[in-house]
Amino acid sequence: MTAKELRQKYLDFFKEKEHAIIPSAPLVPENDPTVLFTTAGMHPLVPFLMGEKHPKGKRLANVQKCVRTVDIDAVGDNRHLTFFEMLGNWSLGDYFKREAIEWSFEFLVGEKWLGLDPRRLYVTVFEGDEDAVRDEESIRIWQEQFAKVDIKAEPVGEEKIVSYEKRIIPLGKDDNWWGPAGETGPCGPCTEMFYDVSPELGEVNDTFENLVKNFRLMEIWNDVFMEFNKKADGTFEKMAQQNVDTGMGLERTLVVMSGKDNVFDTEFFQPIIRKIEEICGKKYDDENSKIPMRIIADHLKAATFMIADGALPSNVERGYVLRRLIRRAVRQGKVLGIEDNFASKIAEAVVDMYKDIYPELEKEKDKIIEELDKEEVKFRQTLEKGLKKIKEIIAESRSAEKISGEKAFYLFSTYGFPLELTKEIASEHNMAVDEDLYREQFKKHQELSRTVSAGMFKGGLADAGEKAAQLHTATHLLLAALREILGDHVIQKGSNINNERLRLDFSHDKKMTLEEKAKAEELVNEAISKNIEVKCEEMTLENAQKAGALGVFGEKYGDKVKVYSIYDFSKEICGGPHAARTGELGKFKIKKEEASSAGVRRIKAVLE
Ligand code: SER
Repeated sequence: MTAKELRQKYLDFFKEKEHAIIPSAPLVPENDPTVLFTTAGMHPLVPFLMGEKHPKGKRLANVQKCVRTVDIDAVGDNRHLTFFEMLGNWSLGDYFKREAIEWSFEFLVGEKWLGLDPRRLYVTVFEGDEDAVRDEESIRIWQEQFAKVDIKAEPVGEEKIVSYEKRIIPLGKDDNWWGPAGETGPCGPCTEMFYDVSPELGEVNDTFENLVKNFRLMEIWNDVFMEFNKKADGTFEKMAQQNVDTGMGLERTLVVMSGKDNVFDTEFFQPIIRKIEEICGKKYDDENSKIPMRIIADHLKAATFMIADGALPSNVERGYVLRRLIRRAVRQGKVLGIEDNFASKIAEAVVDMYKDIYPELEKEKDKIIEELDKEEVKFRQTLEKGLKKIKEIIAESRSAEKISGEKAFYLFSTYGFPLELTKEIASEHNMAVDEDLYREQFKKHQELSRTVSAGMFKGGLADAGEKAAQLHTATHLLLAALREILGDHVIQKGSNINNERLRLDFSHDKKMTLEEKAKAEELVNEAISKNIEVKCEEMTLENAQKAGALGVFGEKYGDKVKVYSIYDFSKEICGGPHAARTGELGKFKIKKEEASSAGVRRIKAVLE
């Protein structure tokens, strides 16, 4: 089976189960300040999981591009990736555990669908704790599924050994509870499906932990039963609506479909790996090449998609994540002996592989190449300086016969030298590295950066959500004001909201004058002072257009759309969410007006 067939089968299956197919959201979330990247298909759906009405109904399915960097250090093994595609189906207050599990089972083992061997399928469920009880219902439903194919499936016993008869594994929150995405928000117990990728090793007979650690079982799908809302005080309250959020890893599922045991042997990576081989003249199967090639392939694929969706390398937030991925890839390139710029060549291979499914790659190809080239040139310069520095350090440290942990960490933090590279160079000079002290420093630094990013959205989804809704409403008011002042040629070209500000890109080819900016502020603040109700109506796309509602560029709408209006001042087709009344917004202030690209201006503004 090819990736294309797998995506299609999944969507066809859920279409048959009356799901509406929605497009993949971009990797850089719009109007969501709680995350840097879209890490799961449920992410863009949070408002709907919390009760907002989705214009396409209560059953949705899609293929979503995702980026996750929590497992970045595990990339190189057989299944961890920073970029992956997730097949997902959702129930927004519609079906719950029974249908979700029955359909997962049917899709996995049904002859018409994936036709996997049910004897090789193992499942985990939530074991229960003080917040929620053991998920007996899911256990029962799973037993019924296995019974359909004459398999007796029991939960593991006291000794926790997984076997042919004991293929249901209850686990705690760390494994079987998903979400919330931020610190607060929708979440719940989940049940995960694992497939035995090495049946030739005989009957499964070990702890679940070992089976996963030794790569015998590969997780392929997760069904989350989102019926709780985690509140800011850490407690869980039942939501009014019971949702289902499922996520199936496309790359991993293709692994099990193809009988392979790792993602890098599939069509998702082979063309990239061939390209790397060609550039460095080494073979993937050479002992020292495999891991660096896997890391390069994964990281540069992620970077390519991230740039296409609007991320740029920098030292903060999203840009920092991107920078780190590119630099790690370049360093691994050096391990393979690649001395010239190569990242953009890999990106070209990625664009070729994916452009049919994700046309934005082809559209943004020039930008992707330019940004990768720029970043690589910059990093190679520090890399050279770092190599000079390490020679000095080695000379200074001669008498101690080792490089101190502090210095090794300095090489890492300032020149981006990973410990492995420092160790390698040190050993060429018959020296060691104080690894324990290095790790201590590293940990300190990690804790620091974790605190920084945790603090970023302290209030979690709920608080941030409220602020985001207000900024979103302010964006509508601003667009309306700009059209009134500058003319009807002004249309929205892009919008982004974070915890502090809104950002609106709009078509206009001149710098705004001071008077124009003051006038825009005045119009928006006037609308705020009138405390107007923000009205939302559902209608057909045709009626929305007839009513004169503005639509956002290139968006794919369903048959029914939501139209938000603020008196007769603003009327836009939009998914929401918004403030209830303009009076909530506070004082609107433009912070910056600048060029964004040819014929497009960008305004950053705040609510004080
Ligand atoms: N949100 C869940 C996950 O990412 C299921 O989609 O695993």
